[in-house]
Amino acid sequence: MLTQDELKQQAAQAALDHVLPQLQPDSILGVGTGSTVDRFIDLLAPHRQEFRAAVSSSERSTRRLRAAGIEVLDLNDVAALALYVDGADEIDPQLNMVKGGGGALTREKIVASVADRFVCIVDESKLVERLGAFPLPIEVIPLAREAVARQVRQLGGQPCLREGFVTDNGNQILDVSGLNYGDPAEFEALLNNIPGVVCCGLFAISGAQVALVAGQDGVSRLEL
Ligand code: A5P
Repeated sequence: MLTQDELKQQAAQAALDHVLPQLQPDSILGVGTGSTVDRFIDLLAPHRQEFRAAVSSSERSTRRLRAAGIEVLDLNDVAALALYVDGADEIDPQLNMVKGGGGALTREKIVASVADRFVCIVDESKLVERLGAFPLPIEVIPLAREAVARQVRQLGGQPCLREGFVTDNGNQILDVSGLNYGDPAEFEALLNNIPGVVCCGLFAISGAQVALVAGQDGVSRLEL
């Protein structure tokens, strides 16, 4: 029986196998955040000569990429990204995701939005029939925290401030349990419209195109 850590390693290896053949010497790769992505960065390091550079979704990943000898570019200096590789906290069969367990959701969503293809790498515990068990991270402007929390309660959620945590953008995170998304893309748009919300961790409007799911019987590939 493989442990969750071993499955994350397998997902990271599958991502490398998926991505490497698509990289050209001038390619720029979008890189997400989290423990699965950390493993992907480590596997990518020996191949740093095979592509130009990366764009990172967090200070954490930037540090790890640079330590691995991979150049990290500012997104403002990049016109296009073919691929973005990132993990998820939940993913459904339609490749809608909940993300932000690591608090990097805003930059993740921005970098993912620039990429042509989002490759999601997860262990099988993240694959769910229906999103909603994992509390939804919402990044908020600090002064709007209570105003957003009130609106979220009206939508049926129970917001909980992530204590002692400040995002890379200087904001706070509400982790919201008890939400019933119905249509995830509609719900994402609804949350995006609350003043003070910087970003919500639902990735349905811009979901993944490919998911590599590591399970006890190997890695399966879900593709839209
Ligand atoms: C980071 O903010 C998240 O979106 C991560 O992608 C997500 O939490 C998955 O992390 P792990 O790979 O550590 O499970």
